[in-house]
Amino acid sequence: MRLKILITGGAGYIGSMLTTKLVNLGHDVHVIDTLVYSKESLNHLFIKKNFFFHFEDVRNKKKLKKLIKKVDLVIPLAALVGAPLCEKNPKMAVELNLKNIKFIIKNLSKKQKIIYPTSNSGYGIGEKNKFCDENSPLNPISLYGRTKADAEKEVLKHENSVCFRLATVFGYSYRMRSDLLVNNLVYLSLKEKKLKIFEPHFRRNFIHISDVVEAFVFAIENFSLLKSNIYNLGLSTANITKIQLAKKIKKQVKQLKIKVIKNRKDPDQRDYFVSNRKVEKKGFKALVSLDEGISELIQYFNFNKKNIHNNY
Ligand SMILES: NC(=O)c1ccc[n+]([C@@H]2O[C@H](COP(=O)([O-])OP(=O)(O)OC[C@H]3O[C@@H](n4cnc5c(N)ncnc54)[C@H](O)[C@@H]3O)[C@@H](O)[C@H]2O)c1
Repeated sequence: MRLKILITGGAGYIGSMLTTKLVNLGHDVHVIDTLVYSKESLNHLFIKKNFFFHFEDVRNKKKLKKLIKKVDLVIPLAALVGAPLCEKNPKMAVELNLKNIKFIIKNLSKKQKIIYPTSNSGYGIGEKNKFCDENSPLNPISLYGRTKADAEKEVLKHENSVCFRLATVFGYSYRMRSDLLVNNLVYLSLKEKKLKIFEPHFRRNFIHISDVVEAFVFAIENFSLLKSNIYNLGLSTANITKIQLAKKIKKQVKQLKIKVIKNRKDPDQRDYFVSNRKVEKKGFKALVSLDEGISELIQYFNFNKKNIHNNY
């Protein structure tokens, strides 16, 4: 089935990969983006007749309303992403991450659908030997986390909605980020041949970007099975600690030295394992391993040392 889809922030890290996939599947895809980080991430799509780019701020209500009217499905990705960036621009964080989502929901008809990604960082500090699931209490500690958690509540007021709580994403994208944990540690391993790890036993869950894209496609194709619900979205074999991640990288970057730094706090106090069983029971499972992703990143960073525009 050919859908009309609007992706806000479709030129970003997740957006550029997702837009490419959906255009290639034959959907009519509209992207609205101000190209804050990369001017080039969608260049390869300008040849496609089913791709429509709108260089516009999502806060332009008139334009956004007009675009929403045209489509069957909205995927809002435009946001200020990450705690440090939101602390720097709190007003814009609330405008983009929360008020803009409220505006989209208000302008959706009952029949129109929305798929919304938020972060699983709201789980904060999990209990020892226990996995957080979708019923675990959310306790976001940053403004970024709070705006995303509040926006998720708004999205769920719309019946035709699916929310994904994403693990930390890794892997290559047309709009590259090296500030995400796996991407960052691989980048530093190659650049400095040395990793300083503090709070090495902090636990995290990860997911490759192509699995994120596949999950969105799965949600589009199985919407009625998933709708009105929240799903954790991560790779179940990638619930590991920071030191385990560093050791995985060392297996592929032999000369790497890992140093554990004691008595230093990680500004990011997340520490939890996440259960992805709910989405897996519906039929979607993330598959790309951390080893595959690390190998991909090593090759990418070896050949592309410049032109990476990070969020912070
Ligand atoms: N990457 C992750 O690990 C991750 C994890 C969980 C959730 N998410 C969510 O996924 C979404 C996308 O994240 P990402 O990693 O692709 O981030 P990103 O920063 O790469 O993408 C955001 C995009 O939004 C665009 N944008 C920013 N302000 C805009 C404005 N005012 N008008 C129009 N466009 C604007 C930017 O140009 C960029 O292309 C966000 O909502 C984020 O919260 C990401």
